[in-house]
Amino acid sequence: MRMLYMVAIIVTLAVSLTTDAQEINSLHLMPWPASVKTTPNSPPLLIQPSFTVGLHDSSDRHLRQAVEIFLSDLRRHTGSTPLDFSVSNGNDVSAAKLAVSSDHPTKEVQELGEDESYTLEVTASGAQLRGTTTLGVMRGLQTFLQLVEVTPQGFAVPTVVIQDKPRFPWRGLMIDAGRHFMPVEVIERNLDGMAAVKMNVFHWHLSENQGFRVESKRFPKLQEMGSDGLFYTQEQVREVIAYAHDRGIRVIPEFDMPGHSTTWFVGYPDLASAPGPYAIERKWGVFDPAMDPTRESTYKFLDQFIGEMAQLFPDQFFHIGGDEVNGKQWNANPKIQEFMRAHNLKSNADLQAYFNTRIQKIVAKHGKTMEGWDEILRPDLPKSIVIQSWRGQQSLADAARQGYRGLLSSGYYLDLMGTAASHYTVDPFADGAANLSDEEKQKILGGEACMWAEYVSPENMDSRIWPRAAAIAERLWSPENIKDVNSMYARMDYTGKWLDAYGLTHNTNYVSMLQRMTGNSDISGLRTLADVVEPVKGYAREQLAPSEPTSLTPLNRVIDAARPESATARQFNELVNNFLTGQIKPGMELQIRSTLNSWRDNETQLSAAAQSSSLVQEVAPLSHDLSMLGAAGLQALDYLDRGEKAPEAWKAQELSVAQSAIKPRAQLLLMVASPVQKLIQASAGEKPTDLPFPKNASD
Ligand code: ACM
Repeated sequence: MRMLYMVAIIVTLAVSLTTDAQEINSLHLMPWPASVKTTPNSPPLLIQPSFTVGLHDSSDRHLRQAVEIFLSDLRRHTGSTPLDFSVSNGNDVSAAKLAVSSDHPTKEVQELGEDESYTLEVTASGAQLRGTTTLGVMRGLQTFLQLVEVTPQGFAVPTVVIQDKPRFPWRGLMIDAGRHFMPVEVIERNLDGMAAVKMNVFHWHLSENQGFRVESKRFPKLQEMGSDGLFYTQEQVREVIAYAHDRGIRVIPEFDMPGHSTTWFVGYPDLASAPGPYAIERKWGVFDPAMDPTRESTYKFLDQFIGEMAQLFPDQFFHIGGDEVNGKQWNANPKIQEFMRAHNLKSNADLQAYFNTRIQKIVAKHGKTMEGWDEILRPDLPKSIVIQSWRGQQSLADAARQGYRGLLSSGYYLDLMGTAASHYTVDPFADGAANLSDEEKQKILGGEACMWAEYVSPENMDSRIWPRAAAIAERLWSPENIKDVNSMYARMDYTGKWLDAYGLTHNTNYVSMLQRMTGNSDISGLRTLADVVEPVKGYAREQLAPSEPTSLTPLNRVIDAARPESATARQFNELVNNFLTGQIKPGMELQIRSTLNSWRDNETQLSAAAQSSSLVQEVAPLSHDLSMLGAAGLQALDYLDRGEKAPEAWKAQELSVAQSAIKPRAQLLLMVASPVQKLIQASAGEKPTDLPFPKNASD
């Protein structure tokens, strides 16, 4: 019986393996470079305290800075002391262990499409890194860092020849600092993470209904009345931009208009389409307030505001948002209705297009190129603008067909708690874009991962971004044919730990959040459970909320600590699949049993903490189900070991345990019901099947 379904599963696994390069299994590079050649069995380059980097041209300030950052990162990754490693110039270069050269300096203000290619050759005696520009050198230095591994001889880099360049010129991460403010150090450590995986655009979402986050000297009531005191000073903005520039990352501000703009109106109610007063919004969702597109005073204000921000943010691009205007204030305002009739604007979309046309001229007057969410796409705007597609891949293709440049974010929303694989398999050139001509495809610049912040705080944001954003970074950097999901996960799991060196908190804060929930006592039981749950998917968190969440709701529950994708559950599922398909390795059953044992005992383990903490109490029903699943899995293994077919009545009862375990509780999903179901089915001589989550768990 078991053999039959084994064949089916083996076929599925084989089909998913599309790359088989030996290198991809042995190196931890992410994103995977365009070309990698290793020489097996040749000795590596040892990273010793005398390690020096030689610069051919020390007059390039950015090159020197990039190397200083690299050396500091190398110290972090090897635990070396600050005085280890050095930079040498000119004559000393030949003696350096890593010789670095760049054909062209990078621009003072980094530009879209600057060459990021590099070659890196490593032998036991030394390494050479050459970038066409200093940006290429920065990317190559990150590759070198990722090659550093611990060996029996100490830290070392294997012999390798890498030629690399990105597939797309725009590889971004958007952080929403509007809904929850993210302090500068949170932004900067995430810039380190971005640089590590070769992302090159930080899209900073700076104004929302819940917060206006930048100091305006011209209109100070924006931050004074619209931010609860949580905003970036202009000095801090300049610091972040410089920090990003040193790491080859452009910074693009987004000021969302005409909707998502309640906080502008707290201090400046005349901008709105209905009389005030206005207050900072605490709830989540799409709200009625919108700028009044019919009054000249609105454009006068925006001209001055955009002028001020265009000076502050040096990047060529300026994002005006433009999404989700519900039009209710416009419908209710007789003057706006009259304006629409007079100007032959037949719909609210026409009125918003009129607004966008005016704003585009202002943005252009201040020397910038306008960017906006896909709602702004209308043929009356000049072809220079950039469209960011969030409502589906089709809008990206539509934009390209009409001659507009575009970016993909649909499919890259990190806040929706999808798997890394679900993001990894989204390609900017697929779906709607698959039938574009080559010329039209040129209009697709790349994509951006989006970290919307209804449910993220400075404490847990890193864990929503990392390591999943690394999978998106690879999709946007690496060749299209690098798409083996198993290889991606192996490298992403490694990268997720490796990023700790940058002070990112996706691993450390998980532990401290669980500790807080148990009152700083033993977390082992809670951790066992938290390791195998995931937050509900899509927009289900709102739908399943016991009371309406707001920006004041604490983000301190298990759902806030739980990883968007449980590596433990994924790995257990794989282990069970391998076990049931006969790919049995020594110790495999023991490993499965010991995991099931810890689950079976979870309810007992957790009971004391559950009694003393409401935050733990909330997950007690999940712990109960985990214990039931652990016990069922162990019994199933006993049947399999004895070669005895599990009785029908037992099977039916245990399958119903698994079935009820997948119901969301505390807005969490128990991710191991499916592999336990497979064990139960196999023990009863049935074909193991995946257990689908109920519909309301995902949207
Ligand atoms: C968006 O998600 N409203 C751009």
